[in-house]
Amino acid sequence: MKILVTGGCGYIGSHTVCELLDNNYEVIIIDNLCNSKKSVIDKIKEITKKEVKFYEFDLSDKQSLEKVFVENKIDAVIHFAGLKAVGESVEKPLMYYRNNLDSTMTLLEVMNKFDCKKLVFSSSATVYGLPKTLPIKENFPLKTTNPYGTTKLMIEKILNDLYISDSNWSIAILRYFNPIGAHESGLLGENPNGIPNNLMPYIIKVATKELPYLNVFGNDYNTKDGTGVRDYIHVVDLAKGHLCAIDKVVKETGIDFYNLGTGIGYSVLDLVKTFEKVNNIKIDYKIVDRRKGDIDACYADVSYAKEKLNWEAKKGIEEMCKDSYNFIVKNK
Ligand code: NAD
Ligand code: UFG
Repeated sequence: MKILVTGGCGYIGSHTVCELLDNNYEVIIIDNLCNSKKSVIDKIKEITKKEVKFYEFDLSDKQSLEKVFVENKIDAVIHFAGLKAVGESVEKPLMYYRNNLDSTMTLLEVMNKFDCKKLVFSSSATVYGLPKTLPIKENFPLKTTNPYGTTKLMIEKILNDLYISDSNWSIAILRYFNPIGAHESGLLGENPNGIPNNLMPYIIKVATKELPYLNVFGNDYNTKDGTGVRDYIHVVDLAKGHLCAIDKVVKETGIDFYNLGTGIGYSVLDLVKTFEKVNNIKIDYKIVDRRKGDIDACYADVSYAKEKLNWEAKKGIEEMCKDSYNFIVKNK
């Protein structure tokens, strides 16, 4: 079976491509490398010892995309391509709406034209906004607080309307919680340029002494130690969830929404302490003011994904902390 993976050179996409190749799928990647590197393709080949076809262009380039569908008989698509930095999306909303919506619209039009109607889409727990209760279930009300999140919610709605118009579509919308960790080989992982926004990349920069200490954004939240609680999930577990979703969309038509998390919430200080323990490195930190827009706690009810996709996360927080750091050590 041939799977088109948009954004396949990125953090989650590259891990998913490895899982697909390991499970004998043929993979075609489209990526414009706006947030990734071409060398990822060689790393994927090194890990899997398999070939992967790569096209470098912007997904909103319809002509190039049609050419890919002409050259390859694509059975299903996993759509990761998109911009994802919350803060940047507040500063540059038009860039986010243009990139995330245009690329998706182009993809859907071309899929429709070539009668390829099986899609797995990367959404985010950010669509739940400020949940009234925890854990978060898929049928909770949806509300976004930044342009990035709004692009995800808008795409979810577009996909819903598409399915209503044509029930031959088969769509799985995956709402990720907080992916961290890296491939156990140390060849793939996440290492953003500049000062990281997210917790694990920041902890790593403190571990490598590129930054002096971690700013812990608030210790007066309504959580066990006062610091923010999130549902961290190992990126390899997340990648495996996509194979289960592909299985689902190939077998039956319909549209459905799934939380991909572990169902367990850890605080900022839990993550810091675990990172220190498993990697034997001291992480200095200072408690600073809350970050605007942050919520106390966010973790998933994962029972629906378990029931419908036959998937659940297996790796714990220690492995997440170990693998995240291993990737950086191996790629210094
Ligand atoms: P990433 O930035 O590492 O990967 C996205 C890839 O898409 C990059 O390689 C980038 O170059 C490519 N891309 C972006 N716009 C493109 C375009 N117009 N045409 C072609 N390629 C394009 O991000 P990631 O962490 O791997 O996230 C993958 C998806 O999952 C994104 O849609 C993101 O919004 C979503 N998501 C991520 C997280 C997270 O915390 N990492 C959480 C929830 C949802
Ligand atoms: N935090 C710090 N210091 C930092 C960075 C983060 O204390 O330097 C804290 C935050 O306050 C929060 C927790 O660490 O309590 C996690 O923050 P992240 O920025 O790593 O993750 P978020 O939960 O804020 O958001 C991430 C993505 C969103 C996505 C969401 C759910 O950035 O795009 O996970 O998937 F929507």
